[in-house]
Amino acid sequence: MWTLKKAWYRTFQFVFNICEVFLPQHSPELLTGAGSIKKLPAFIKSKGIDKVLIVTDTVLSKIGLLNSLFAACDEAKLSYVLYDGAEVNPSIECIEKAYKAYCDNKCQGFIAFGGGSSMDCAKAAAARVARPKRSVAQLGGTLKVLKKVPTLFAVPTTAGTGSEATLAAVVTDYSTHHKYAIQDPVLLPRFAVLDPELTVGLPPHVTSTTGMDALTHSVEAYTNKFAPKYTRILAEKSTKLIFENLEKAYADGKNLEARSNMLLASFYGGRAFSRACVGNVHAIAHTLGGLYGTPHGLANAIILPYVMEDFGPAVYKPLACLADIVGIKGNDDGEKARAFIAAIHQMNKNMNIPAQIDVIKDKDVPQMVEWAMKEANPIYPVPVIWDEEQFTKTINRLRNPVTEEATIS
Ligand SMILES: NC(=O)c1ccc[n+]([C@@H]2O[C@H](COP(=O)([O-])OP(=O)(O)OC[C@H]3O[C@@H](n4cnc5c(N)ncnc54)[C@H](O)[C@@H]3O)[C@@H](O)[C@H]2O)c1
Ligand SMILES: [Fe+2]
Repeated sequence: MWTLKKAWYRTFQFVFNICEVFLPQHSPELLTGAGSIKKLPAFIKSKGIDKVLIVTDTVLSKIGLLNSLFAACDEAKLSYVLYDGAEVNPSIECIEKAYKAYCDNKCQGFIAFGGGSSMDCAKAAAARVARPKRSVAQLGGTLKVLKKVPTLFAVPTTAGTGSEATLAAVVTDYSTHHKYAIQDPVLLPRFAVLDPELTVGLPPHVTSTTGMDALTHSVEAYTNKFAPKYTRILAEKSTKLIFENLEKAYADGKNLEARSNMLLASFYGGRAFSRACVGNVHAIAHTLGGLYGTPHGLANAIILPYVMEDFGPAVYKPLACLADIVGIKGNDDGEKARAFIAAIHQMNKNMNIPAQIDVIKDKDVPQMVEWAMKEANPIYPVPVIWDEEQFTKTINRLRNPVTEEATIS
């Protein structure tokens, strides 16, 4: 029975991959460089838009990170309404409030300003504008929007999710603790601003964990089956930039070059997985975000090396290629791949990211397995399709690491 199911999943992935050729994904037009946020309002006006809803979170509005944007809006005579209620792991309620603010104020576009949470809140609200008769829950899944959404201008202030370059908006239903994605090419922002000055104040632990989220996107996209060549090139570029810059940005937040490179790495990673998908790391991480509120990047950082270890020889070849790109040596693909995974454990250790997750309760494991399998299958073209037993084994290993590297605390 399981063999038949696996064959059906692979067939689905193969056919879906062919269909995706007919759903081309554009690359958002970019404004880049230190201070580029100041150019955004005039740019928006040049697109014939006079009023926008700025979606962000209270932390960013309180620390004054939006001040230069507000000043530039005034200068360019771009009207704006501020909604700063986006929550970490955005809820349906905060998305509904953003949607209402957009409609009540007759806005013509969104500025999605912040980390993945703020950007996804804006993207999901935009989906509601396009489909007012469908609830957020009804929009969850793949290709449920299929209608033009208001123009999205994305401004990432973390370098991790790549949401500014993806077709996804991840939402959490707090009544069930289920975290899921709305995935539709119409949610891909048309424009994005990669301004490193907006990320210099990011605390070290947010820098490290969000950066490891970007690495997870690239590694999962790269190891997945059916990944087209352009996504492989993007994932390679992103992985190299992360190996060269993440620890620098972690050690010195004001290093503008490292910050710039991390924004680019995150953008490339987002573009790569938007087409080639993520995999079992994300499927498990989302269950932790939903059940315990574990920050997304932190969950991915910890889970990534375990899942890659548990895929075994199926990922040796792609991981060996990534090892070559970042200069990790080995005598054969297996050795290089294992050294690459060890390097991920080491990066986590260098940035004080724990090697284990201690919040997982025994009683929740079956629910985690069920949600992770539901998210991954049939859509994620993972290198090895896991059954219930393997998901359980890996989740338990996150709590009881058995490899030498994994026992780092
Ligand atoms: N749409 C996608 O394609 C996609 C991909 C991956 C993850 N996600 C989702 O994105 C969310 C996580 O986003 P995230 O990791 O960017 O974190 P986040 O948006 O949740 O932000 C984390 C914290 O960092 C703060 N912060 C953000 N930028 C800051 C800055 N420049 N200075 C100081 N503080 C700052 C925020 O206020 C918040 O308190 C999760 O819900 C995750 O599931 C979405
Ligand atoms: Fe992610």
